[in-house]
Amino acid sequence: MNDTNPLSNCRLALIGCGVMAEAVIAGLLRKQLVTSDQIAGSHPRAARREELHAKYGIQMFEQNKDAARAVYPDGPDAGSVLVLAVKPQRLRRVLEELKGSIHQDQVVVSIVAGAKIETIADELLHAAVVRTMPNTPAQIGEGVTAWTPSAAVNQKQEQQVHAMLNALGKTVRVENERQMDMATALSATGPTYIFLMMEALIDAGVHMGFSRHVAQELVQQTMIGAVLFAKESKKHPAELRNMVTSPGGTSAEAIYQMEKGSLRTVLSKAVWAAFQRAEALGERPAKTSERS
Ligand SMILES: NC(=O)c1ccc[n+]([C@@H]2O[C@H](COP(=O)([O-])OP(=O)(O)OC[C@H]3O[C@@H](n4cnc5c(N)ncnc54)[C@H](OP(=O)(O)O)[C@@H]3O)[C@@H](O)[C@H]2O)c1
Repeated sequence: MNDTNPLSNCRLALIGCGVMAEAVIAGLLRKQLVTSDQIAGSHPRAARREELHAKYGIQMFEQNKDAARAVYPDGPDAGSVLVLAVKPQRLRRVLEELKGSIHQDQVVVSIVAGAKIETIADELLHAAVVRTMPNTPAQIGEGVTAWTPSAAVNQKQEQQVHAMLNALGKTVRVENERQMDMATALSATGPTYIFLMMEALIDAGVHMGFSRHVAQELVQQTMIGAVLFAKESKKHPAELRNMVTSPGGTSAEAIYQMEKGSLRTVLSKAVWAAFQRAEALGERPAKTSERS
């Protein structure tokens, strides 16, 4: 760790140490952004607390407020980040438990789907809140996380939160909570679109006569290679597609069928529907929200 690391003098607490919280802990330690004595976590089950303590050497607490207090900033220049990582339906209870235990210099980061900054700030009586929306590949450090801070979050806290989110993969700062709902539809729901296309292509390979194992290898590496090639070439996807489409060839025939089947329109409608759903879920009080 060095002076350019915004987390070098920062402590972090993770409230609700499930899949995503563990991804944050593992990523932070793997990238050596913090040491284990800078992290605390809370979990209601003793077995999970023991598991995480044994695996990462972090302090674990049964009570959420004890984890919050364990990472209070230990000096005027020190930082402290409190990550809310419970399921949406548990959030209201957790906020009630934490009320009164947040230090004025802590920044609260929510990864809870649909939970609005205003709801969290009002329930906690604490204005410095960052809302984030990661996606599933965060579990292997290859995610993309959209994030937006409230006006009360200072520059140093923003840098600390940004550094923490980098442990999950790439980050994109968005301008407002409407864009958080847009990111929910595009990137947080995004792996679903890709997995469905992956599955359909593998099934098509099996239909032609490949074993599932071979079809999977061919499809997965094609997807990885196509994305890396597109990123590296910096060309528009249509240009890349034209490069491999010979007159009267296999790509031309396949494209004709995809356009005839309205694949492009279906994808666009799917993303729009997910956006509207994200907006609708955000309108509900957190205690009745059941989806992540
Ligand atoms: N997974 C993703 O890819 C993803 C992507 C984007 C956003 N998110 C958001 O991230 C949040 C966490 O998701 P996740 O997949 O990590 O869920 P998860 O694995 O279920 O983690 C939540 C953890 O909180 C624990 N918990 C339950 N009640 C609690 C309480 N009162 N206090 C403290 N902890 C409590 C749960 O314990 P039990 O297991 O015993 O119930 C569970 O281990 C969700 O809000 C979700 O919307 C997840």
